[in-house]
Amino acid sequence: MTSTSIERATSISDDNSPSAAPQTVLEVAGLQTVFHTQDGDVHAVNDVSFTLESGELLGIVGESGSGKSVTMMSLLKLLPMPPAEIVAGKVMFDGRDLLQLDLEQLRDVRGGDIGFIFQDPMTSLNPVFTVGFQIMEPLRVHMKLNKKQARERAIELLELVGIPSAADRLRDFPHQFSGGMRQRVMIAIALACDPKVLIADEPTTALDVTVQAQIIEIVKDLRQKLGMAIVWITHDLGVVAGIADRVAVMYGGQIVEYADVAHLYDDPRHPYTRALLQTLPRQEGEREARLVSIPGQAPNLKGALTSCPFAPRCSQAHDKCLQQNPPLFDVNDQQKSACWLEEAND
Ligand SMILES: Nc1ncnc2c1ncn2[C@@H]1O[C@H](COP(=O)(O)OP(=O)(O)OP(=O)(O)O)[C@@H](O)[C@H]1O
Ligand SMILES: [Mg+2]
Repeated sequence: MTSTSIERATSISDDNSPSAAPQTVLEVAGLQTVFHTQDGDVHAVNDVSFTLESGELLGIVGESGSGKSVTMMSLLKLLPMPPAEIVAGKVMFDGRDLLQLDLEQLRDVRGGDIGFIFQDPMTSLNPVFTVGFQIMEPLRVHMKLNKKQARERAIELLELVGIPSAADRLRDFPHQFSGGMRQRVMIAIALACDPKVLIADEPTTALDVTVQAQIIEIVKDLRQKLGMAIVWITHDLGVVAGIADRVAVMYGGQIVEYADVAHLYDDPRHPYTRALLQTLPRQEGEREARLVSIPGQAPNLKGALTSCPFAPRCSQAHDKCLQQNPPLFDVNDQQKSACWLEEAND
């Protein structure tokens, strides 16, 4: 454990101090992940770079198959390797490149300084252990708490995520919780060791709208209280608008637009972002319409990208888009777009 993580190993409810000037806590550079399959290579993550500042909430948005989960799983080598291979990139965290760590060192980071909420709580909670055990285990392993301390903290964590009768519920198994409550348990586990970074992969999509809103409120509240940096993955630009500082829009395994929330919503530059924003419902109750209405098919990720992956669906595509994959151009200080239309402004 580093000295910083020891300093952070204080009671979460005491840690209310405002954070100092933002610092980069996570820096991902040139990440590339390929799946070697029987049908050939699937280029799931293509040269992805982003930073996460302390206390920041970065939203990652994109339709199904755009590489959001594989990107985040790559950071902590949570993918089955093979078939996955991280062929390039750096993931700098706490002065180290996580991609260079061995399994034991990585285990120390996973569930410790970096908390992960997975897309499906039922597959990531173990059905044969009580919820109490699953929250207490990382506390004992990473934070070296004894049984009594771990139990107290587990209760504190369950209360923090809004689970009633927390002390009694420690004895229950995952199937005894509703979907929304299981998701809260997942959040409690991810937060157990007071992470510096929380990665939340679609934490609300499987839930009904009311529970989704409650979970979002909990995370907003916790971010204020704990000052951690968050990566929030979702299909839903509407959700991200309300909580994120910056947003990375992914398409075809790459980031196609990267901007602060104000620029992204006021002046979206990438044609894919614009299309996404147009699918947002104008009225309540229209949620189901999201994303389904962009015409055309998701890109084929077999083989390296040699053209803009969005070109076949883009109303503004021209010859160059079919010949070369554009880099991320700077639109302004706060916004980048991987579109040849920005080339002249760069
Ligand atoms: N084990 C695997 N073997 C081969 N290809 C895979 C594997 N896992 C993921 N992929 C491919 O990687 C690409 C990116 O998948 P990923 O799960 O990151 O998408 P996503 O953006 O998280 O989508 P969703 O919104 O549906 O969760 C997809 O084309 C997917 O088919
Ligand atoms: Mg996913």
